[in-house]
Amino acid sequence: MKDKLNSIYELASKDIENAQSSADLEEVKLKYLSRKGEFNSIKKGLKDLSVEDKKIVGALANEITEKLETALKEKSEIFYRKELDEKLKQEKIDITLPSKYIARGKVHPITSTTNEIVSIFQTLGFSLVPTEYAPEVETEYYNFDMLNVPKNHPARDVQDTFFTKLAPNTVLRSQTSNAQIRTMENMTPPIKVIAPGRVYRNETVNARKNNFFHQIEGLYVDKDITFGDLKGVLNEFIRIYFGSARPTRFRSSFFPFTEPSAEVDVQCIMCQGKGCRTCSGTGWLEVLGCGMVDVNVLKGVGIDPEVYTGFAFGMGIERLSMLKYAIDDIRLFFNNDERFLQQF
Ligand code: DAH
Repeated sequence: MKDKLNSIYELASKDIENAQSSADLEEVKLKYLSRKGEFNSIKKGLKDLSVEDKKIVGALANEITEKLETALKEKSEIFYRKELDEKLKQEKIDITLPSKYIARGKVHPITSTTNEIVSIFQTLGFSLVPTEYAPEVETEYYNFDMLNVPKNHPARDVQDTFFTKLAPNTVLRSQTSNAQIRTMENMTPPIKVIAPGRVYRNETVNARKNNFFHQIEGLYVDKDITFGDLKGVLNEFIRIYFGSARPTRFRSSFFPFTEPSAEVDVQCIMCQGKGCRTCSGTGWLEVLGCGMVDVNVLKGVGIDPEVYTGFAFGMGIERLSMLKYAIDDIRLFFNNDERFLQQF
């Protein structure tokens, strides 16, 4: 039996030596060392031997198996490296090849314009109001009553405002000014906040109007706030947003919640003030409404107008974005046309 073992060992060693690849080695392993291999059939014969012989032959069998396994392992490592080298050579990557095109998403121009405006006002000391002070579904009370808008004001008409059936007197807010009231109810002056968000109006959609759009509301209430502060802040905002060279003008106007009120125009970016279709020949484009917070509004939220004054403003985000990037149709913001969105 010993001789048999030794001769098998020799055969197996030769086979290992002659192997040309890891596949050959696998075959050797199968032939000699697997369950159905030659060694195992010999090991099965061990049970017929005497205890003494069993010890000697068993030990030899183990020794030989170990030796073969080591030999196989050593050789297979050599093959592994050799075959890996060959594979790597074959799969060599040409780093000069152009890569696969992966389409990347972009930030929507409304979002980026909003972020830009918000960050300008933040540098001027304004903070964002908590979102719960600026809900899109709002009561008439906050959207109109508390803003000093008379009961019979045409803006309240269903033709201008979307009413909801969720509860009586609830609307989709028509302006971000609702945030002014909720903020003043919840905070004490000094209050210096901005509130961006979506507003809704029952408009016929065309190149200039959509039935929802976005605004940023601003509010600054403190002791001794004057119209001069309002002009200073808004001029500074426009200077930063449009670049220093753009002329502006404050034009007197009317809003129920401010007194006095003004609208701010910037010089038309299309014609540099000469007059064109975009600015209806005037050379100016309106960008925002503003004014000193009306005494009635302050009283309504329990702020003493003898002690505090404030200014407020509201601007259309689409409008500001259209003016800066020379976009001539508001609907482009909402069509999700990649050819438009890719440009930002
Ligand atoms: N809420 C006005 C609008 O939607 C804009 C506005 C004007 C807001 C004057 C203000 C303001 O805060 O003071 O047309």
